[in-house]
Amino acid sequence: ALITMRQLLDHAAEYGYGVPAFNINNMEQGLAIMNAAQKCDAPVIMQASRGARKYAGDIMLRHMIQALAEMFPNIPLCMHQDHGNNEATCLSAIKHGFTSVMMDGSLQEDMKTPADWDYNVRITKAVSDMAHWVGASVEGELGVLGNLETGEAAKEDGSGAEGKLSKDQLLTDPDEAADFVKLTKVDALAIACGTSHGAYKFSQKPTGETLAISQIEKIHAKIPDVHLVMHGSSSVPQYLQDLINEFGGEMPQTYGVPVEEIERGIKSGVRKVNIDTDNRMALTGQFRKVAMEKKTEFDPRKFMIPAMEEMTKLCLDRFERFGTAGNA
Ligand code: G3H
Ligand code: 13P
Ligand code: NA
Ligand code: ZN
Repeated sequence: ALITMRQLLDHAAEYGYGVPAFNINNMEQGLAIMNAAQKCDAPVIMQASRGARKYAGDIMLRHMIQALAEMFPNIPLCMHQDHGNNEATCLSAIKHGFTSVMMDGSLQEDMKTPADWDYNVRITKAVSDMAHWVGASVEGELGVLGNLETGEAAKEDGSGAEGKLSKDQLLTDPDEAADFVKLTKVDALAIACGTSHGAYKFSQKPTGETLAISQIEKIHAKIPDVHLVMHGSSSVPQYLQDLINEFGGEMPQTYGVPVEEIERGIKSGVRKVNIDTDNRMALTGQFRKVAMEKKTEFDPRKFMIPAMEEMTKLCLDRFERFGTAGNA
């Protein structure tokens, strides 16, 4: 059944687990996630970016979510707008059946320029008021995603801020987080702790200097009842880099967020964990493998089926390690 993010995360907080929020753009990703959830009895957050809405179309997404809810009647399912850039994006998502929206006011409407405090509070509060009138949940963001050493948001395949960011912007301040939640009444708060979008987050395995889980602990100590959200939480596992590169890919060596660091975050109030890149890599790895190994093949299902299985395996692992499994 369709439920809101708030309902889902309140349960997660009560029982001390985290919920992966997987991005979807198409039917295959939706099925891969739901098959994993069904296998381990996990509640689901699916999220669509503005790009996903443009790719699939709002009507297609609306019917797809309804179909998935109908196919998997025992799995609680939240449909969330990822990185809404203004009121119109968030409100139109709700109109199309999303039960939750992110108003990302950490960046201006162009999603490239870091926004100031007043803009973020004003636009997030506006969306929060309107969404709550109609029973949808809201995620806000305070702080800007980006690499703590270089001051840059990952660029190759991730969206993000342009230009150099300061440490102040890259680490969410606990006192400001408390004020922000009080002023905007968001249901969940995305924080910045050194992660960024896409595959190229860290040039080596992150340390406490480059991935500041300790900052999450400080924020949680200040606002223990607020559901925290970690963006840029793909682990970019070596086995998927190897799979892609073994079959003709040329991804340079890179490092993501180790799952054990996310588990630490979950102990400190992280309830929603955004993952897109890992699933993209799972699908692409199998596409490449089939393409290289079966050169006469031209039935797309022969590419999609192993790709979906690889993605289901990834999702299942995250449901289990985040403690989501068994909570549907
Ligand atoms: O925020 C980034 C997500 O991975 C969505 O990416 O905008 O390319 O769909 P996208
Ligand atoms: P990744 O690029 O690490 O998967 O992050 C996805 C994300 O934060 C979507 O909002
Ligand atoms: Na989001
Ligand atoms: Zn994100």
